[in-house]
Amino acid sequence: MNKIGVLTSGGDAPGMNAVIRAVVRTALYNGIEVVGIERGYEGILDKSFREMDLPSVGDIIQRGGTILKTARSKKFMTREGQEEAAANLRESGIECLVVCGGDGTYRGAAALSAQGINVVGIPCTIDNDMAYTDYTIGFDTAVNTVLQAISNIRDTASSHERTSIIEVMGRDCGDIAIYAGIAGGADYMIIPEVAVDVDAMCDKIMAGVKRGKNHTIIIKSEGVDIPINELAAILRYNTKQEVRYAVLAYIQRGGSPTARDRMLAGRMGYKAVKLLMEGRSNIAIGINGDTLTEIDILEAASMSRREPDLDLLELANVLST
Ligand code: F6P
Repeated sequence: MNKIGVLTSGGDAPGMNAVIRAVVRTALYNGIEVVGIERGYEGILDKSFREMDLPSVGDIIQRGGTILKTARSKKFMTREGQEEAAANLRESGIECLVVCGGDGTYRGAAALSAQGINVVGIPCTIDNDMAYTDYTIGFDTAVNTVLQAISNIRDTASSHERTSIIEVMGRDCGDIAIYAGIAGGADYMIIPEVAVDVDAMCDKIMAGVKRGKNHTIIIKSEGVDIPINELAAILRYNTKQEVRYAVLAYIQRGGSPTARDRMLAGRMGYKAVKLLMEGRSNIAIGINGDTLTEIDILEAASMSRREPDLDLLELANVLST
């Protein structure tokens, strides 16, 4: 192997740049050329290739987003698109590829693998919704950004003696809500994996009010099937408290990656190149405890969602009484 490609695809995640840096530096250190592919799979079809040298990844470890840009390519989802992509890669001498993204990105990687391209996947998404790995790159940064927002909103909620609902991302996965909620001392968290009990939520708010608590913080995952303004109206009506809400949206997808995400990025990027150097491919890298793991990339993409950690929800409940 003398050349590898690297791309980022799907929603961006803080730490993607640190992965690109790790892949480029490990490859160059071992005498392997690296081609950066822009805008994910779309860039393979457009032949948006650029050579990555050492300076190209200087001063990016601390930057959120991805210097290679990202996209969700419709054309690549077709069989013709995948055949064309594999042909473009081969024509440019790229037989080995490191892909960074979530489930959709992995399905694309598996399709390229079926076309004979050697691929290794690195899990990058703020959602932490990939069942085969304990953590995805970007999740820790997103949780810390949400935590900062909770602290700020708590200041004003407490001053005005209000109930605040904060909506966070995560698609169908409640991990951002659970982790940020526990770390931020929220009173109630609602996640897509567990049916919402509005009455219990109102009872908890009222129990707090009775014992003199002057504000309540509720974290709502975006995947919970009730619009935040409707939830606010219900709580306002049932508890007679003042209720405000905030949708954090993309603010939690940007920002400088945390040390934890950068470490994960460095370790996984390094390992991806090492696996390809050993002639191994079609692998998704994950982490279990503190140990890096490997699994078939199609299996990783096809695994059903991880069950929510009910112990964490119970912990959140106890700590917020
Ligand atoms: O997968 C990351 C994520 O930010 C989700 O949490 C969110 O539902 C989605 O992407 C938003 O996607 P888009 O960038 O297409 O609006």
